[in-house]
Amino acid sequence: MHFAAIGRVPGDPILGLIDAYHQDSNPNKFDLGVGVYKDPNGLTPILHSVKLAEQRLVDQQQTKTYIGGHGDSRFGQLISELVLGTESPLLASKRAGATQTPGGTGALRLVADFIAHCLPGRGIWLSDPTWPIHESIFAEAGLKVSHYPYVGSDNALNVEAMLQSLEQAPEGDVVLLHACCHNPTGFDLSHDDWLNVLDVVRRRHLLPLIDFAYQGFGDGLEADAWSTRLFARELPEVLITSSCSKNFGLYRERVGALIVCTDTADKLTDVRSQLAYLARNLWSNPPDHGAAVVTTILGDAQLKAQWADEVEAMRSRIAHLRAGLVEALTPYGLAEHFAHINQQRGMFSYTGLNAEQVQVLREKHSVYMVGSGRANIAGVDGTRLDSLAKAIAQVCKH
Ligand SMILES: Cc1ncc(COP(=O)(O)O)c(C=O)c1O
Repeated sequence: MHFAAIGRVPGDPILGLIDAYHQDSNPNKFDLGVGVYKDPNGLTPILHSVKLAEQRLVDQQQTKTYIGGHGDSRFGQLISELVLGTESPLLASKRAGATQTPGGTGALRLVADFIAHCLPGRGIWLSDPTWPIHESIFAEAGLKVSHYPYVGSDNALNVEAMLQSLEQAPEGDVVLLHACCHNPTGFDLSHDDWLNVLDVVRRRHLLPLIDFAYQGFGDGLEADAWSTRLFARELPEVLITSSCSKNFGLYRERVGALIVCTDTADKLTDVRSQLAYLARNLWSNPPDHGAAVVTTILGDAQLKAQWADEVEAMRSRIAHLRAGLVEALTPYGLAEHFAHINQQRGMFSYTGLNAEQVQVLREKHSVYMVGSGRANIAGVDGTRLDSLAKAIAQVCKH
């Protein structure tokens, strides 16, 4: 038999968590596992701006023919403006260009191939911890994966250790940085920290790869782009992976982009020729529908304003839930212990709860979160914060 020697790999632990959650008959259960935004009704809604754009596409779209290796150039322009800023000199001088990809994951997959193929011998540095898919994508592409410390066992950001580690990275290696809303911890760098990271990256001649999957979910659409724009402005070469899954709620439509910044327009053309070649071997042409929705929204002032309001509503709901959870923990004397929840950004929080406490929360209180203690704060039902706080207080007593 051809397949006789093929074994089984373990499934994604987060997907296993979803199954367990669905099988739990407790009506007061909490799903804080999977990384999607949920509204107060526990739904991951289709944004109104997206519905309107889809309607427009149904009425007006003329063709479904192939879109080309880099995708729609209008999408590329608009997503680059969203990420780099409309006034970015890089765009005016044609030193930045976007390749449309199937989600942020597609952008990461493409950039992994680009590094392996065009920059052989370069290793990549990931934060410890990071989104687990970062680990597998770059390892599968054949890159040497190393880690810089980020959040330690004391559940606190350790920028000193991060900087020290990057000082040791071999010249030319790639450093992956989360632009905002760090997954899984929720701990983001301050502006001063970013300046220090920029300094090391510049001195050590490292190549930054900025993963920007949560624009708008931290401090706002523009504020979240601060670090990315800083690096793009200050360094001659930067790689950026952008995702429209969360901020447009287009998860399953698979919309993202790999944005490359180069020192000359001519070099951008060289790099983009390589990306088109690599993308051809991966997926030929990117999927169109979600990107067409994004293009319709970003290209129409009214729809864009409506969308920005909807992103802001999602962002502020998450911020309120963070504050609300810490407040709900106050009567148990735990506000200070969990104060970091309020300082973290985005959907995720490294709560600091250990594996045993996470297990008890699941088994005794039907609260489902990842074993590392990562909770998706956007999954919390705002009307039941007290009951969640009570469950957390009970496991903290033991
Ligand atoms: C850090 C990070 N990067 C990239 C992605 C890619 O998301 P998608 O491929 O769904 O656009 C995610 C999604 O969870 C993420 O958390």
